[in-house]
Amino acid sequence: MSTTLLHRNFDLRPHNSFGVACRAEYLATLTDEAQLPELLQRVPTGTPVRMLGGGSNVLLPEYLSGLTILNQQKGIRIAAETPNEVVVEVGSGWNWHEFVLWTLRQGYGGIENLALIPGTVGAAPIQNIGAYGVELKDVFEALTAVELASGQTRIFNAEDCVFGYRHSIFKQQKIAGKFYLSKIKIKLSKKRHQVHTAYGAINQQLAAWRIERPRPCDVAAAVIEIRSSKLPNWRQLGNAGSFFKNPIISDEKWEALRAKFPNAPSYPAPHRRIKIPAGWLIDQCGWKGKVIGNVGCYERQALVIVNHGGATGAEIYRFSEMVAQSVLERFEIALEREVNVVQP
Ligand code: EPU
Repeated sequence: MSTTLLHRNFDLRPHNSFGVACRAEYLATLTDEAQLPELLQRVPTGTPVRMLGGGSNVLLPEYLSGLTILNQQKGIRIAAETPNEVVVEVGSGWNWHEFVLWTLRQGYGGIENLALIPGTVGAAPIQNIGAYGVELKDVFEALTAVELASGQTRIFNAEDCVFGYRHSIFKQQKIAGKFYLSKIKIKLSKKRHQVHTAYGAINQQLAAWRIERPRPCDVAAAVIEIRSSKLPNWRQLGNAGSFFKNPIISDEKWEALRAKFPNAPSYPAPHRRIKIPAGWLIDQCGWKGKVIGNVGCYERQALVIVNHGGATGAEIYRFSEMVAQSVLERFEIALEREVNVVQP
């Protein structure tokens, strides 16, 4: 196994989609989990260790002490196959969207609604990525993880991962940051499968293209079209997608809200609860397109906080506090961050 290079005082600005300046005390690139034990021996005992994937769902501070590991573990193989289904095992350092495109080229269906989500394959289970009515948990089979402290390998199946809305066990405080997820197994369909087109504007887009029996690649094309029109490209305008989760409120609170705002959008959530789009709440408070200093809410989707250039992680954080505070004051709804705020 080749030795990885260990850098000092490494510039992470190109490695986070917010494009904020951040220096990592030590940085190494990992291409295989087998490099981990040797790498961990090269930094002083007790050095904090962090994994960084695509950097597309994190808000970084100006300085990160300890070792930051950039995940570039590739590799892909068919782990199991039946006439109807296939289980693909993919290295966690793959770019998620590249992987979606790979599955489509093979004619596999299942993750077409998740096209164009930024980030790596390894980050996908951590927050159970989701879009347009599909979540990672719907196709997830298992993953291989290495415990950073002991170097031991562990397999997590779907139940072990405790998936929820933008949530998994890997976000729970006692587990967060303790594992390196190395490979993910995903179950896909080989035969023409039931595509999900009811959510968002997918059906409208397909109808505009006069596609009546959409294949997974058609659905992916529709998703790509919709996402590109609504969400800013982080290469041009730094952002991390939705900054907050969509809050889930009680039936009673929803009735009270609807009485005041009859046009409030909502989705049903489990246990008779209601999910309200945070983007709508933020928009109602007048934040859409608003800029303070170097930070603003995107002009076409208020839920996306953007770096207009030169913002620090702390500045973006303060802006997000103001947004959350005004939603709390107006609606008595506390927004929860979706983006991971990394501590120095
Ligand atoms: N809305 C407004 N004003 C805004 C933004 C939204 O009124 O500024 C309203 C829209 O009109 C619509 C509703 O809010 O009625 C929902 O908006 P949208 O369809 O854009 O979806 P969302 O709920 O804001 C969620 C996910 C996205 C995902 C889309 C599509 C969360 C936190 N966000 O956004 O995920 O792409 O649905 O499925 O669940 C991400 O997680 O980073 C992300 C982009």
